[in-house]
Amino acid sequence: MKILITGAAGFIGSRLARELADRGDEVVGIDSITSYYDPRLKIGRLKEFFGIEPDPSWPMAAALPDTGSERSEVSYSDIPYGTELRSPTMPGLRFVRLDITDAEGLDALFARERFDAVMNLAAQAGVRYSLQNPMSYVQANVVGFMNLLECCRNYPVRHLTYASSSSIYGLNTKTPFAESDEVTRPASIYAATKKSNELMAHAYAKLFGIPCTGLRYFTVYGPWGRPDMAPMLFADAISAGKEIKVFNNGQLSRDFTYIDDIVHGTMLAIDHVPAENADGVRYKVYNIGCSHPVQLMDFISELESALGREAKKDFVPMQQGDVYQTHADTSLLESEVGYRPSTPLHDGIRSFAKWYQTMKL
Ligand SMILES: NC(=O)c1ccc[n+]([C@@H]2O[C@H](COP(=O)([O-])OP(=O)(O)OC[C@H]3O[C@@H](n4cnc5c(N)ncnc54)[C@H](O)[C@@H]3O)[C@@H](O)[C@H]2O)c1
Repeated sequence: MKILITGAAGFIGSRLARELADRGDEVVGIDSITSYYDPRLKIGRLKEFFGIEPDPSWPMAAALPDTGSERSEVSYSDIPYGTELRSPTMPGLRFVRLDITDAEGLDALFARERFDAVMNLAAQAGVRYSLQNPMSYVQANVVGFMNLLECCRNYPVRHLTYASSSSIYGLNTKTPFAESDEVTRPASIYAATKKSNELMAHAYAKLFGIPCTGLRYFTVYGPWGRPDMAPMLFADAISAGKEIKVFNNGQLSRDFTYIDDIVHGTMLAIDHVPAENADGVRYKVYNIGCSHPVQLMDFISELESALGREAKKDFVPMQQGDVYQTHADTSLLESEVGYRPSTPLHDGIRSFAKWYQTMKL
């Protein structure tokens, strides 16, 4: 099967692209390599999972936009836009730096490649940043997704899967969160764009017969994770002896899900093309989480023990846009697709900490 993975230099996409290539699929990964977080981490993932080393002929990028972090000072070897890079280690694995808001570039890629399946992971992620820069969410998550839908309409694919998010459950209080719950009360623009994706996909599934599956991811963690998420933010602070911010005085719980379980579940979902529903539409959404919410304080204790250092904790109020708890009901994905998350938090945190302590950018 020939598969397009967007967001392929990202946390989930880089691992997924590699796993699909390992099982024999032909994979094209695209990513615009945004500087929302340190692009060197993305280039590191391309090296780790695609075997693509930075090339001396690549231009040096300017310093990163000033985000007030130490990382803004760095420069790095930057991947040229639009150039196809073949994995030297994995036949059938390629990477192209491409922005999904670039409608022409995306159309040319689809015309050339004729994909069987598409997995859209490219997005402006993160809840908190959507308060500062909401337009970047509309661009990547709404305009970019629309471009992908148009490409799937013009160059038909067997299945379009895409990342939604647990954050769309917003102000809902009934737990666990189930796909049948009404989701009309988002607490952030990030969540609103992800809900929009589900609506847009439904319209295209209905209008043009494109089979579509949305995956509502629940707080993914593990090696090569995102620096804007709690595990890495906490690990950075704990290692540097700095305070960690514990929101809502620790009274939060998250359905932390280990990256291996997520990648495995995503592969099962890509392979599982939805049948027609009662409306005659081939459309599905699934929760993909662990179904075992963890109290924030327990998560911090596990991390302290794995890193061998105690955290200095700054207990602060709830952040705007955040939700109190996430808890996935994953029974639908289990019964229909065969998903079985199996990594206990203790083991997952150990693997994350081991990677974190040896990681060099
Ligand atoms: N990691 C989680 O816990 C989690 C939870 C819920 C939903 N999700 C969703 O899953 C997807 C993958 O998340 P992730 O954690 O791997 O995030 P990530 O930020 O590591 O990966 C997303 C990638 O998309 C790229 N990108 C952004 N805008 C782009 C554009 N316009 N064109 C091409 N590439 C673009 C970024 O450079 C990045 O590498 C995202 O859609 C995210 O919203 C993730």
